[in-house]
Amino acid sequence: MATHTIAVFASGSGSNFEAIAEACRCGEIDARVALLVCDKPSAGVIARAERLGIETLVISPKDYTSREEYESVIADRLDACGAELVCLAGYMRLIGRVLLERYARRIVNIHPSLLPSFKGAHAIADAMAYGVKVYGVTIHYVDESLDGGEIISQRALDYDGTDEEELTSMIHSVEHKLYVETINKLINNR
Ligand code: GRF
Repeated sequence: MATHTIAVFASGSGSNFEAIAEACRCGEIDARVALLVCDKPSAGVIARAERLGIETLVISPKDYTSREEYESVIADRLDACGAELVCLAGYMRLIGRVLLERYARRIVNIHPSLLPSFKGAHAIADAMAYGVKVYGVTIHYVDESLDGGEIISQRALDYDGTDEEELTSMIHSVEHKLYVETINKLINNR
């Protein structure tokens, strides 16, 4: 039986979600993923969670009158499953006051650049367009800003090509490893 409980928020394909869930399943992380929160009913991550037997809350902000109300529903579900740590993995939404207060310093995010460079939704394409030769991944605590918050871990990778798909897949491999290592450090230090 795992010692810790984590939740993952995702809006997209969910490769990071699956890497985390798999590491928990095989005991590489001493935690269980108790909940996936997804704000996009069409997201690929939902099928991954189903396949892995992970409880999923699909919730659309459009169905609520305010961000506070939307986030309160999520926070109640996090409380109910006993989540100690919330890992954002391609969750394409800013986190607001309700979740930041109830889960202070317990929400982390992964971003595919060496922050503070290349914030935002197109980090890999932006870095490539700029012509950088060293790319990377950052995991940071979440605050109210976009890709801001204190940095927890970073890993760099060299790439001198022009194939964005190839680079994206290299970055994803780094992300999957770094997220697992970082979650381990965070839960073991609590
Ligand atoms: C990752 O590159 C992550 O850094 C960013 O969104 C992407 C999500 O990919 N925040 P996936 O859905 O985990 O495959």
